[in-house]
Amino acid sequence: MRTAKTPGSARSAARALPRPLGLVPTMGALHAGHRSLLERARRENASVAASLFVNPLQFGPSEDFERYPRSFESDVAQFEAAGVDLLYAPSVDEMYQPNFSTSIDVGALAKAFEGAARRGHFAGVATVVAKLLGAIEPTRVYLGQKDVQQTAVLRRMIGDLDIPVEVVVCPTVREPDGLALSSRNAYLSAAQRAAAPSFHRALESVAAAFERDGDADHVIATARELLESPLVWEYLAIVDPATFEPRKDVRRPALVVGAVRAGATRLIDNVVVARPDGGDPILTPPLLQAAGRT
Ligand code: PAJ
Repeated sequence: MRTAKTPGSARSAARALPRPLGLVPTMGALHAGHRSLLERARRENASVAASLFVNPLQFGPSEDFERYPRSFESDVAQFEAAGVDLLYAPSVDEMYQPNFSTSIDVGALAKAFEGAARRGHFAGVATVVAKLLGAIEPTRVYLGQKDVQQTAVLRRMIGDLDIPVEVVVCPTVREPDGLALSSRNAYLSAAQRAAAPSFHRALESVAAAFERDGDADHVIATARELLESPLVWEYLAIVDPATFEPRKDVRRPALVVGAVRAGATRLIDNVVVARPDGGDPILTPPLLQAAGRT
């Protein structure tokens, strides 16, 4: 595995790799969710690049940028074990030159839910991912459904800016009790961790209610009751999977999005309600043909 620290050296290393090239962007502190993206990228491409960069632009002033978990040595070992050919791991100074001033605003999609709770967050995500795509020039970029609004924001940016990359969205990897894996789960106290599965159960109950209740407000109110203390709702909503506009009626396909607060920690999760024909409006189906390695 080759490691690059600057956009220029990452680009020249990436250009030398056989195509198709899959890119898995990460902020490190790797867990099985990240590894599932790396494995899928490895299966579907001749070469795999990953990035490891804790992006200050996507953290608010009162958020956890300083204390975000960092485990560089163990992450590097995991990227290597996953068959990554090129790791792009710039410092903050290499990523953002002193007079850096550009910000990508994708509009309404980035203002709702996570965008409302974390002002400027999606501009930071969109800006850094545009830079990563510019440095690596991948054929495909692999994203997790866990951060579903992020996938929608990035799809919109990539489409609007004519960036020639295919977006592949991979299913959320969960603990056996349903909690979605997240680097931030490490912050949970024993009591918060014990209550955490009730968050996913509440989301699932909204999806299950699609068979018998047509009133979104009623479905949401019933599901809110399922959350266990000390978790507190930030939002729970049924939205259009493409626009994230809230739905009043209960109709397929849909997306159930939620966020809860566990003390100073926020957890987010989502569940898809498939199209009437079973089609998933978020996930990208696996490619039929595995790419041969050279
Ligand atoms: P990070 O939180 O490190 O996540 C990297 C990728 O892993 C994202 O695409 C995320 O959706 C995916 N992921 C996280 N938890 C997952 C899980 N339980 N199952 C499946 N996939 C999961 O998301 C970011 O970093 C950043 O915003 C980034 C895109 C790298 C830009 O800075």
